[in-house]
Amino acid sequence: MKHLLTLLDISEQDIIDILNLADQLKYELKHGIAHNHLRGKTLGMIFQKSSTRTRVSFEAGMVQLGGYPLFLSASDLQMGRGEPIQDTARTLSRYIDGIMIRTFSQEEVENLARYSEIPVINGLTDLFHPCQVLADLMTVREFKGKLAGLNLCYIGDGNNMANSLIIGGLKTGMNVSVATPPGYEPDAAALDFAKGYADRFTLGHDIEQAASGADVVVTDVWASMGKEAEKEKRKKDFLGYQVNKRTLSFAKNDAIVLHCLPAHRGEEISEETFEERANEIFEEAENRLHVQKAVLVKLMHTE
Ligand code: CP
Ligand code: NVA
Repeated sequence: MKHLLTLLDISEQDIIDILNLADQLKYELKHGIAHNHLRGKTLGMIFQKSSTRTRVSFEAGMVQLGGYPLFLSASDLQMGRGEPIQDTARTLSRYIDGIMIRTFSQEEVENLARYSEIPVINGLTDLFHPCQVLADLMTVREFKGKLAGLNLCYIGDGNNMANSLIIGGLKTGMNVSVATPPGYEPDAAALDFAKGYADRFTLGHDIEQAASGADVVVTDVWASMGKEAEKEKRKKDFLGYQVNKRTLSFAKNDAIVLHCLPAHRGEEISEETFEERANEIFEEAENRLHVQKAVLVKLMHTE
């Protein structure tokens, strides 16, 4: 594993290795056991979109690993004035040891990796959010003790989260069911992948069907970053696609609820369900830190 661009590229074994290492690093952090695996290494973090969790968890994670995080706002880089990503990649490769990038187009991230001599990590594109889904898988394992055989249900927009959850869920042996409003289905990249798992994947528009028997219920915002102009139209199109008491009545009694955050209470999740499930949702947010540290160690540790 050279980069983390999409979960399509990495094996189930890579995913399990990352989750195991993440569990270990979480344990070590909680018990004050030092783990300076990246002493002297620098991670450049390019942000073309806003972030709370991704920025702070990568930044704190690098410090905890003994390394140095370098926040690079795309608008302050020459990239923001049109310098090609290929040249940014070749330049940064001469200075630092890894790059994390959050941007719009997946192609841009793939291009960065193509020209980079150092590992590249996708911190979210319009198409995928692999770091978040690794944290989600870690959280499911923590609450449920396993992944394979569990029923994972996603309700809402067929966005970056839906795409990565389909791939990550199916790769780790889960049954994945997705309900979106008509016209908001996941991307072909995820649906083509899911064709190989027809017995464990369903896609439809019916919440009851999708949530029925679920062990894990996941949702995400109706209008992702970059879709702000469609916000009002989406509010109408997504009406009813909400995780709430009624949705959870179809799921198993011990189902957990995940949300990558930020959440819009009263839209994709009710205020009541969000607060009732805050324990699960903020454990998921915490796990971004641990799982990304595992990814950083796997990609950047050289000794
Ligand atoms: N879930 C997530 O990626 O959060 P941020 O946008 O705050 O980084
Ligand atoms: N789908 C959301 C995820 C935010 C972490 C977005 O892209 O804005």
